[in-house]
Parts: sequence; structure tokens; C-alpha cells
Amino acid sequence: MTKHLLSIADLNKGEIYQLAEMAMAFKKNRQQTDHLRGKTLGMVFQKPSTRTAVSFAVAMYELGGLPLMLNAQDLQIKRGESLPDTARTLSRYLAGIMIRANKHEEVAELARHATIPIISGLTELEHPCQVLGDLLTMMEIFKVRRQEDLNNFQVTYIGDGNNVAHSWMLAAALMGFVLVVCSPEGYLPEKQIKQKADALLALSGGRIVYEKDPETAVRDASVVYTDVWASMGKDEERDQRKKIFTPYQINKKLMSHAPKNAVVMHCLPAHRGEEITDEVIDGPQSVVFDQAENRLHIQKAVLVHFLQQPK
Ligand code: CP
Ligand code: NVA
Repeated sequence: MTKHLLSIADLNKGEIYQLAEMAMAFKKNRQQTDHLRGKTLGMVFQKPSTRTAVSFAVAMYELGGLPLMLNAQDLQIKRGESLPDTARTLSRYLAGIMIRANKHEEVAELARHATIPIISGLTELEHPCQVLGDLLTMMEIFKVRRQEDLNNFQVTYIGDGNNVAHSWMLAAALMGFVLVVCSPEGYLPEKQIKQKADALLALSGGRIVYEKDPETAVRDASVVYTDVWASMGKDEERDQRKKIFTPYQINKKLMSHAPKNAVVMHCLPAHRGEEITDEVIDGPQSVVFDQAENRLHIQKAVLVHFLQQPK
């Protein structure tokens, strides 16, 4: 059975540690390799992207393969060709597909009919490759190498209970750390993800805590994480959301309640002055561009792991 990466929970804890280790090795010795020589990755985008598009393309190139950018607007899907037929056709040419889609269900449908691995580059429900890169950043900074290093380790996610929050919840549930989620009423993560996380938490010893007050939420955090208040597809709600989310801004005052050695993370792109101030994102605790760089290294590991599986 072909393995796909639609959710971070498609991996287990051991595989996540292996991917991080492989990514660290790629990072230490950045060079052209032969891992994916002769293989082509199709990259389908239904929404804009800077980091995901460029880091996947460069990763594929540096692994000896070919990244093929496919704008969803230019494919026959646009004229009504079905996803199953597209999946069956592309499976005859490509070694894998990375897709950024509006609807998670469309990616799932593609995966059901493809005989090559499908890797999600973000849907409205999850952003697995982002959080894998973030876990790599967190492991590097806090020297996490095994389970004991995560005992009582706390990540605090403040803001919209969106795709990135969902992948963090599943990551905490798989890896066994504490995730504090601080979102306004009405913008909490989705129930289906909570249920999926709860089932995994029982096995890992991790914990997800829902905290209403941002100052309390950051008090014991090693990582303070945020993302835009209005994700792609919700742009028309941006003004209305600004009013509701203002108390959840990561600013200097809020950070004064966090431990001094806490780092600030953001998946980018940021809406500066909304979910995060310039002072914080450009300040000494921010590691946002290390996160962006790590997308390249972790995706090399993801590509090798998924594209080298026996057919
Ligand atoms: N973080 C992230 O996925 O960025 P892009 O939207 O630029 O790909
Ligand atoms: N939550 C954001 C993440 C962008 C990388 C969005 O979906 O737009």
C-alpha cells in the first residue's frame, strides 16, 4: 500500500525522530545528492505559496530529482476532469505529488486513486510539513533527541484554531509534550481534530490544555507560536477577526509573561501588527527564519522517506 502524508498523524513518533535526524544530516552537509535521481515530483498549487513551493522545488533539485510546478488553473481539472482520472494519469508519470489544496477532502480523494505518494502542502485542515519543520527547529534549539527530553516540555499556540494549530495538536499527541491552545471562543480547533488527538494522547502521555487567558497560556512555555488570524480563503473576515483577536497579539507585554528563554515561532507569512508585532518578530526571541529554512531540510527527509518506498 502506498503511504501518503496528508496528516502529521500519518507518521508515528519513531518516524518523526528519524525524519528529524535525516534532516539534520542534510542540513549539516548541504549538497547535491543522488537520492531521487530520475524521479519527478509534481507540485500542484490551488493557493499561493512562497516557502512551500520554493523549499520543495529546491529540495527535489538538490536530491537529484525534478520538481514540476503545476498550477491548478492550467490542469484539465479546471475544465472538469475528475480527480480520480487525474490521479490515475499522473501516477503513470510521476514519483509523487505535493499538493496545496482548498479542501482536505480533495487531497484525500487524490490519494485514494493515486498509486504514488501524495504529500499535503497545506489544506484548510492541516499543514503537516510546516509542523514537521517546526518540530525540527524545536528539537535543534532545545536539544530534544528522545522522549525524556519532552517530559513537561510546553508549546503554547495562541490565535486561530486553524490548520497549523491542528497539526500542532496531533504533533503533541504523537510526540508526548504539553500543548497549550489559547484561542477565542468560536475560533477553537475543530472537534474532529480534538477527537483524533485525544485518541493519540492516551498512548503518548502528552497533554493538550485549552486556556482562555494569553498571559497564563505563555507562563511556562518554551515555544510561543502564532499564525495569521485570517488564513487563506478567510481574507474577507480579516477586519472582523482583528477586533476579536486583538487580546491574542504576541507583543512585548505578552512576552514579558513568558520565560526568558522561550522562543517565538510563526509559520509565515505574517500579518505584522496583527497577530505579532515587529518588535517581537524581529526581536531576539524570534526564530521564524530558522523555521523557514528548516522547511527545506525536513522536506528533503520527507521526500526521501515517501518517494523511495518500494512500489
Ligand atoms: N509557511 C508556509 O507554508 O508558507 P507559504 O504559504 O509561503 O508556503
Ligand atoms: N494558516 C495559514 C498558514 C499559511 C502557511 C493559512 O492557511 O493561510
